[in-house]
Amino acid sequence: MCEYLKSPMNYIGGKYKLLPQILKYFPDDINVFVDLFAGGLDVGINICANNIICNDINSYLIDIYKTFQNTEIDTLLKYIESKILQYDLSKTNAEGYLNLRKDYNLTRNPLDLYVLICFSFNHQLRFNSKHEFNTPFGKNRSSFNKKIRENLIKFHSKIQNIIFTSQNFKIFDYSKLKEGDFIYADPPYLITCGSYNDGKRGFEGWGVNDDISLFEILDKIDSQGAKFALSNVIEHKGKINSNLLMWANKYKVHKIDYNYNNSNYQAKNKIYQTEEILVVNY
Ligand SMILES: C[S@@+](CC[C@H](N)C(=O)[O-])C[C@H]1O[C@@H](n2cnc3c(N)ncnc32)[C@H](O)[C@@H]1O
Repeated sequence: MCEYLKSPMNYIGGKYKLLPQILKYFPDDINVFVDLFAGGLDVGINICANNIICNDINSYLIDIYKTFQNTEIDTLLKYIESKILQYDLSKTNAEGYLNLRKDYNLTRNPLDLYVLICFSFNHQLRFNSKHEFNTPFGKNRSSFNKKIRENLIKFHSKIQNIIFTSQNFKIFDYSKLKEGDFIYADPPYLITCGSYNDGKRGFEGWGVNDDISLFEILDKIDSQGAKFALSNVIEHKGKINSNLLMWANKYKVHKIDYNYNNSNYQAKNKIYQTEEILVVNY
């Protein structure tokens, strides 16, 4: 099996586990690749293309990536290590974490935000309505450990040529996409919940109208001769996304098995099926 790089963001909803199932359906030769809902970049950093554009509405997240790009790796590691020392960060020191969180919300240094994510509960990137970072401490679980450090070093070199943008997908400029180009869309899923799609995290939530706008945009991209792939969930805990089901009918639908390694999970959760899919126009 191919070895993929895991993002050092450990992003909620990150696609790392599913890469072997998803990337096998991606086109071979890509001129411009757009990761429209890039999140932790698990997809963007594992793609081969002449040009890679990664977009996400969360500007704080995109600022972290841009700051990584503009900082030499040694300087970056020294900065992270100095913050860990300064605030005495560890898996058990909640006070140190809360002090850094308070200071970050005043100074807004993207590298401090990265350090916070490393020590936060489930590595979540959550903000309140005033755009203050408010994820609780990841007690006994989260830290800037050896594995994350190794992944960060590789990640830093992988992202050097990526173009980062932070726009709502509704206003992103698709007009130049044409044959040879490929857009991957991994939006929030209407019928599952992620902390980035409930509308309570300082960024717009995700609703039926967003799904419909995205389907229209993908139809337009198809008519321009470019390729697309959309990740989504058709069925979750008895709920069905019927708009998605109807729209996807005109394209090719591949089933993605989220728990394909976990037979125990499958046995226990037969009634609560989650059906994940990849819709492609080629
Ligand atoms: C399912 S996650 C993507 C995960 C990503 N594929 C990965 O591997 O880490 C969805 C992302 O969409 C972003 N998002 C939500 N609404 C958006 C919008 N209107 N425009 C652009 N990005 C949006 C969220 O910030 C979140 O990072």
